[in-house]
Amino acid sequence: MEKILVLDFGGQYNQLIARCVREMQVYAEIKPYRKITVAEIREEGYKGIIFTGGPNSVYDEKSPHCDPDILKAGIPILGICYGAQLLSYMGGGEVASAGQSGEFGRVTLQLIRDSRTESKLFRELPKESVCWMSHTDYISRVPEGYRVTAITEHCPCAAMENEAAGLYAVQFHPEVSHTRFGKEMIRRFLFDICGCRGDWIMQEFTRQAIEGYREELAGKKLLLALSGGVDSSVAAVLLHRAVGHNLTCVFVDHGLLRKGEGDMVEKTFREEMNMNLIRVDAKQRFLKRLSGVTDPETKRKIIGEEFIRVFEEEAEKLGHVDILAQGTIYPDIIESGKGDSAVIKSHHNVGGLPDVISFDEIVEPLKYLFKDEVRKVGTELQIPHELVWRQPFPGPGLAVRVIGEVTEEKLEMLRDADAIFREEIAGAGLEKAPDQYFAALMDSFSVGVKGDARAYGYIVALRAVTTDDFMTADWTRLPYEVLERAGSRIANEVNGITRVVYDITSKPPATVEME
Ligand code: XMP
Repeated sequence: MEKILVLDFGGQYNQLIARCVREMQVYAEIKPYRKITVAEIREEGYKGIIFTGGPNSVYDEKSPHCDPDILKAGIPILGICYGAQLLSYMGGGEVASAGQSGEFGRVTLQLIRDSRTESKLFRELPKESVCWMSHTDYISRVPEGYRVTAITEHCPCAAMENEAAGLYAVQFHPEVSHTRFGKEMIRRFLFDICGCRGDWIMQEFTRQAIEGYREELAGKKLLLALSGGVDSSVAAVLLHRAVGHNLTCVFVDHGLLRKGEGDMVEKTFREEMNMNLIRVDAKQRFLKRLSGVTDPETKRKIIGEEFIRVFEEEAEKLGHVDILAQGTIYPDIIESGKGDSAVIKSHHNVGGLPDVISFDEIVEPLKYLFKDEVRKVGTELQIPHELVWRQPFPGPGLAVRVIGEVTEEKLEMLRDADAIFREEIAGAGLEKAPDQYFAALMDSFSVGVKGDARAYGYIVALRAVTTDDFMTADWTRLPYEVLERAGSRIANEVNGITRVVYDITSKPPATVEME
């Protein structure tokens, strides 16, 4: 399989670069700059390398640098932003600070001289287009062997290249959607410069994974914690296709799911997919442990611990399993090139590895895939649309949407209110407009009037957010009519609720969830 290396110098768009490459059906992997040697790069057979951006200045003592022999490995390189400056610096050019004239945001990119015909990166692109910049430093003198191919008003070298050596540099960010022809440039780099063919196709991945696991895991017993979320569902179905009933899925129903969700998971996997599923009704157990607890972090901790405990008990009943399967995905395991020590983010879908279960191996079939690719595999495997496109749902479930103490009565109200909100969003055809939307139950009371009498009930807050990565989010401007219908139905149909409000805070300063 042909591969592109995204060498991470700590830029904020690194995953975006890898996803953009993969969308063009070329497999890309992200590695921190300090974790890979030239020998390894050669051995892996990368077809091309992309140097990412990063927050540093190339002259800072602590700024990230890589082995200069990478430039001589005979593999085409595209340097982006900091990566472009690094190429200049390593090649003997100069980088300077633009001070106040740094460029941030939309800038007009001008291809110079004959770049439209001569540069493989820009061939046949418009002479002027919008690009996205974010830099203070700039390339003030290009290294020998390079020529400038594009400029902007303030940047004398917005792009440069040394075609003979296969080295290309752009000061702007072609990976972000604001750069009008950025994807075209990346496409030209992959196909015209690196000579990729585009063999990273999800149907192939799915087929090969199933066949590979069928052979590799033959006769072994597998155990997987199924939450009903996209990742664990897709991992489960893929492995089921490979090993059939040798896979047992344990679905811990903690009673903190949305209305009808537990039954839907059970029906889908047990009845429709004929999978080996154990549904553990642990509702009372969780409620008991949450009784009287109001602190959000304590709630999370209790739920995480209890989850592992229930899962361990079920696994013990099964006896020895050979393999623990998990729905880990690529963003969970990417090591970051930021800071002095590259830290591996540890993440486990079951909230930590259970320690009383004995198993020989862990299998993570989706660990090289981004979320959108996991969804493609899910579709490929014919998993129901509502599961594949399920919006994110926090592990601690509705417990972090009931402010304060969690009780059965409050959960019941919240489930009904949330279901109405979801129905109204679906009814308006807006299911994919907000990236996440839900109802939350406040911990305070409000006065209302129901049937000529004074009523005293809970307040429900509706929240809908629009976001790319959930690190920042904006509140979604839902149509007033949708809000009106949802608000009026919730206040009228759900006993115990007298008031409905809409949350209009972004993240930051708020978070997506209320706790
Ligand atoms: P916040 O509230 O931190 O949420 O802005 C960002 C995204 O993460 C989800 N979230 C969680 N997911 N366990 C999870 O598995 C949690 O404890 C948790 N808290 C928040 C949240 O739903 C949103 O998508």
